[in-house]
Amino acid sequence: MKCISSLRMKAIDRNCEYLGLLPIQLMENAGAAIAQSVREKLGSGRVLFIAGRGNNGGDAFVAARHLAGSSGYIVKLILLGKARDIGTKEAFHNFSLLKFSRVEVIEITDSSQFEAEASDWYSEADLLVDAIFGTGIKGKIKEPESTAIDYINREGRAGKKIISIDIPSGLDPDGGSFEKAVHAGLTVTFHRMKTGLMSEKAKEYTGIIRVAEIGISADAEQYVGPGDLMTLRRRESSGHKGDSGRILVIGGGPYSGAPALAALAALKAGADLVTAAVPANVAEIVASYSPNLIVRKLSSNILCPEDVSILLDLINSHNVVVMGMGLGRAPETLETVRKILPFCRKAVLDADALAALSDTVFESLAGNCDLIITPHAGEFALLRDMKTPENQDSRIKAVREFSEKKGVVTLLKGKIDIISDGKQTLLNRTGNTGMTVGGTGDVLAGLTGSLFSRNPAFLAAACAAYINGAAGDLAFEKAGNGLLATDILEKIPEIIKEADI
Ligand code: APR
Repeated sequence: MKCISSLRMKAIDRNCEYLGLLPIQLMENAGAAIAQSVREKLGSGRVLFIAGRGNNGGDAFVAARHLAGSSGYIVKLILLGKARDIGTKEAFHNFSLLKFSRVEVIEITDSSQFEAEASDWYSEADLLVDAIFGTGIKGKIKEPESTAIDYINREGRAGKKIISIDIPSGLDPDGGSFEKAVHAGLTVTFHRMKTGLMSEKAKEYTGIIRVAEIGISADAEQYVGPGDLMTLRRRESSGHKGDSGRILVIGGGPYSGAPALAALAALKAGADLVTAAVPANVAEIVASYSPNLIVRKLSSNILCPEDVSILLDLINSHNVVVMGMGLGRAPETLETVRKILPFCRKAVLDADALAALSDTVFESLAGNCDLIITPHAGEFALLRDMKTPENQDSRIKAVREFSEKKGVVTLLKGKIDIISDGKQTLLNRTGNTGMTVGGTGDVLAGLTGSLFSRNPAFLAAACAAYINGAAGDLAFEKAGNGLLATDILEKIPEIIKEADI
């Protein structure tokens, strides 16, 4: 069964919101699923919800309202804390609706209140629903939550039915470890199995696990969205120069704009230091584009084996190499690419550098170099020696199989970008007709390198595709089909700032 982490689940929820499926709708569906599980476990009787102040509690407020509307149920709810401290507007809204339902509510703010005010509620109930914590648990369990868990487990030991919402409260949703946790007879988790529920230790606590559908759109998982950006590593507040990426761009010779666009995109996406190593004839031109670039002049007018030693020094002092933009395909250039590649720990290969690849090169890189390739359909066809399929499903299959076989992350550029590492595949649909203009691929390569410096290859490539397209969409609002690659550069920081990365 496919398991996901709590962070991935948060990303999917956020992508749903981006698609217009609001958190309040998901909460309503989650609550309805819980109410249904209670009905299946208990035909009629007394149900007590024990709810925290997060969204897990929010699911319980909905479920309690649904159940109180069904005949045969007497529903009570203990809120751990004050209503004014409920953490999200969705949970607060659903708590407010309880006053129009037949749900009796008490607030418990202190563990000393349990014996006098809540003990009878626990003992008279036929079924308890645990909604104290879900995926939002952090650190040591405080009071009154800790005592609330003890009371639930006391009733469980006496044979009472216990249902946990999403995750038995106390369990770490990812690792499955815990200091104390609710012993549930049934755990109703949402959308997908959570990794923490599968751990050996967790098995004693989850009881039977039911995965409930809550109406999450397939596109929220299949397409990259702002939720995926949330999973990128944040910048350290105490970082030093270079911690947020040292990118080496190797390109140019026949062209001068391409390496400059890639280098500037890396800077705009947050990299600290970007060096453009370019052939002698274009070095001054590239430097003249921006004072923000560090430019290293190579020995001749094309990349050639004489430059290998200076390039290896540069590779050592940078953490990602982005290579290929405007490089040309002279035999000595491709030979140089092949010579230096095994020394790159992380590399993004675009455009002409892709022509240096062969089965032997891929094999020599396995285990040495973490590689992202960013071909368009024509370049991908050359790499595979086979026409790139037009049909979307066949294209996805081709990218997935190629990535798995060669051990790389492929970002196949197109109207819909396809990103795969062979195991995971995402699609991206940001971007627009204006982006067929020259230079947008160079921007994407630099952007990918920047994100790759601090993130895993697959995530970096997927998020770079999204950001490039989203920046292009912002630029398109003003420029329309007259959009230029430099317009996209200008919009990258807005997307980066909004995502807080
Ligand atoms: N001790 C006491 N309270 C804690 C602790 C702790 N160690 N850790 C977190 N909390 C409190 C937070 O202050 C917050 O009020 O628990 C609440 C958050 O818990 P969750 O409801 O699990 O987190 P949230 O992210 O709001 O919701 C995630 O929402 O989609 C639903 O049920 C689904 O599990 C999922 C949940």
